[in-house]
Amino acid sequence: MTDPTDVAPSTTPTEPRSLVIDNIGSLITNDPETGRGPLGIVEDASVVIVGGVVEHVGPAGAVADVCIDADGACVLPGFVDSHTHLVFAGDRAQEFTARMAGQLYDGGGIRVTTEATRGTPTHELDRLVRQRLAEAHRAGTTTIEIKSGYGLNVVDEVRSVEIAQAHTTETTYLGAHLLPAEFAGRPDDYIHLVCNEMLDAAAPHSKWIDAFCEVGAFDVDQSRAVLEAGRAAGLGLRLHGNQLGHGPGVQLAVECGCASVDHCTYLTDRDIESLAGSDTVATFLPAADFSTRQPYADARRVIEAGATVALASNCNPGSSYTTSISFCIALAVREMNMTIDEAIQAVTIGGAAALQRTDVGRLAPGSAGHAVILDAPTHHHLAYRPGVPLIRRTIGPLGDVQLAC
Ligand code: NIG
Repeated sequence: MTDPTDVAPSTTPTEPRSLVIDNIGSLITNDPETGRGPLGIVEDASVVIVGGVVEHVGPAGAVADVCIDADGACVLPGFVDSHTHLVFAGDRAQEFTARMAGQLYDGGGIRVTTEATRGTPTHELDRLVRQRLAEAHRAGTTTIEIKSGYGLNVVDEVRSVEIAQAHTTETTYLGAHLLPAEFAGRPDDYIHLVCNEMLDAAAPHSKWIDAFCEVGAFDVDQSRAVLEAGRAAGLGLRLHGNQLGHGPGVQLAVECGCASVDHCTYLTDRDIESLAGSDTVATFLPAADFSTRQPYADARRVIEAGATVALASNCNPGSSYTTSISFCIALAVREMNMTIDEAIQAVTIGGAAALQRTDVGRLAPGSAGHAVILDAPTHHHLAYRPGVPLIRRTIGPLGDVQLAC
C-alpha cells in the first residue's frame, strides 16, 4: 500500500486519466468545509479522482474518463489501520481455544509465533503478508501500518521490517515486543541489543519505533530507553500500553511525545487528562479485548475529555486475528460507548492522526483518492449490520477490488 492510487492508468505520462465515483447516495468526506457536520456529509454526490488524488467533490453527474456508478450507496474514505502485526507465520488457534475455555492472555504466546516466524523463509513470509493485505483491502483498508516484533533477533527483525517496507511506508520496528527465550533472565542485555545493533540494522527500513510497556513485557525504564534510542535514530515514536492492566504506558507515551499509545484498555482519570492535554492519539484495539476477554475501554470518557482517538485492527495471531475494521466499528459502538459517527472518524481521520498523516482518511480536494463503496445507503449500517460483508468495492493502493455480488 505504498503508492498513491491511480485506478485509471495514464494514457500519456503527463495526463493521467480521470475517474468519477458517481451517484453516491451519501458521501463521507471528513471535511466540514465540503459537507454537512463533522463527517462532511454530501448527499447525491460525485467524487472525481485524477492521478490518485481527489480533484473535485460535487453533485452527482460529474464526467470523467472512467465512471464507477455507486448506485445510491454510501461512499467513505478508505480505512486507515494504524496498528497491525502482519509479519508472522503460523497461527495460535489452540491458544485462543484454551482462552475461550477460561485461560488468561498474558502475551507469552508471542514466543510461539517468534519460533514459527524465524523458521519460515522470507518468500513465504512475504506471501503471507500479501495474502493478509489483500484480505484487509477487500475489507476496506487502504492505508496500513505494519510492525515487526516476531523476529526478536537482529536477522529476523530486519527481515520483518524489510518485508513490511515492500508493502507500506508505515513500517514499525518492534524489537521490544517480548524478551526472547535465549535472553531469559537478561532483559537489560536484550534492551541493549534492541537499542544498538538491532536498531542500527532496522532503522533504514522503519518509520516508527514501538515497545510493549506492560507487566510481563518491558518496564517503564526499558521502554523509555527504546523510545529514546529510536528518536536519536530519527524514528517516530509509538507505544503499546495499558492493555492488560493499569500501568505507566500512557504517561510514558505522553512524556516522550509518541504519535500514538495503543490499547488504552485501562485508563485512570490522570491518564485521560494527560492524553487530552497532549498530541498523543489514544488508539483503541477492541478486537484484542474481544479475543482476550479483557474489558472494553470506555472511549466516551476519553473523547469527552478532548483527546484524539483512533480505532485499529491490531491484526496478529495471538490477541486479535482479524483485519476487519467493520468489526472494530461495531464493537466500538456497542461496547465502548462511541457514536457511529465517532467510530467512523476513528477508523479514518483518527487512524491518519495516529500516523501523523493528513493526506489520507478524507475524501476532499487534494486528499488521496482512496475510497470504500458500501452495499448500504449510509455509514450507520457498518455498526447496525454487524458481521455482514458491506464493503462492495475498495479503491486504493492495491487497485480496485470489487466484491462479487
Ligand atoms: O498488540 N500486546 C502486544 N502485542 C500484540 C499481541 C501479540 C501476540 O499475542 O502475539 C497486541 O495485542
